[in-house]
Amino acid sequence: MKIHVLGSAAGGGFPQWNCNCPQCSAVRTGSPHHRPRTQSSIAVSANSQDWLLVNASPDVLQQIKAFPALQPARALRDTGIAAVMLMDAQIDHTTGLLMLREHRQKLPLWCHPLVREDLSTGNPLFKVLDHYCGVDFHALSLDTPFDIDGLPGLSLSALPLLSNAPPYSPHRDKPQPGDNVGLSVVDQSSGKRLFYAPGLGQMEPHVWQAMQASDCVLVDGTLWTDDEMISLGASKKTSRAMGHMPQSGDGGMIEWLDKLPASVRKVLIHINNTNPILDEQSPQRHTLTAHGIEVAHDGMEISL
Ligand code: MLT
Ligand code: MN
Ligand code: ZN
Repeated sequence: MKIHVLGSAAGGGFPQWNCNCPQCSAVRTGSPHHRPRTQSSIAVSANSQDWLLVNASPDVLQQIKAFPALQPARALRDTGIAAVMLMDAQIDHTTGLLMLREHRQKLPLWCHPLVREDLSTGNPLFKVLDHYCGVDFHALSLDTPFDIDGLPGLSLSALPLLSNAPPYSPHRDKPQPGDNVGLSVVDQSSGKRLFYAPGLGQMEPHVWQAMQASDCVLVDGTLWTDDEMISLGASKKTSRAMGHMPQSGDGGMIEWLDKLPASVRKVLIHINNTNPILDEQSPQRHTLTAHGIEVAHDGMEISL
């Protein structure tokens, strides 16, 4: 299976349009050790022809242009995207759906019913899309493996996890099973397994089990410290309150990833522009490297 990182930044991207934090300033002035990044999304395929788009970032059009496999040009109107799946209802993972409105059929879309609800009420993207291509909704079942029509060779399963629902959700700060999910994808021929969770606020036994069973984990890399946004004056919320486990400190992501076998590939994604790991020469980035942890970048390709 091929996993193509279309976008590796958290909401806002890198640089963020209105941000002059040291990192955004550095990437804007062309620092050789800061790479620009679009908002997080991946494409997954077993045959390199038919792709599952996991999350639809506001940057999806730029991401499709940058990855020609998603435009195979077999007909006047065509796409390599066979289905779209959403991990949550957040703006950075869903508003790209509007950019796909010219699809020739209803957009095959997989998400949890709670995400569908948020995207039909608080942020009614599905209702708007009904005036264009419409949505062919498939309810994401939790903990039961399933296949998706048009995506040969892949077996999928979603599990509930603790992160946060968007501000326009009635479940904001009141997590419900399904408003945030992690995704396991298994290549049916090689048996190799990916675990994807761009938002992961707290480790729970079933999530940890899924990570241990994987050959590659592509997980939440939003912030380095719990109070990163507060100490910069960028927000009043801690990382954990926003639904993102920080990397450093007790119970942080590094500590968890350290417990995985060395054979598991460990990659961080959904990285916020304030996170010092975006500076490839920072001590924090060197710490990750010393722990065998990679940082996803746009265009990164993982083969399993
Ligand atoms: C998050 O991951 O917490 C959200 O995407 C934040 C945002 O809306 O930018
Ligand atoms: Mn986000
Ligand atoms: Zn910034």
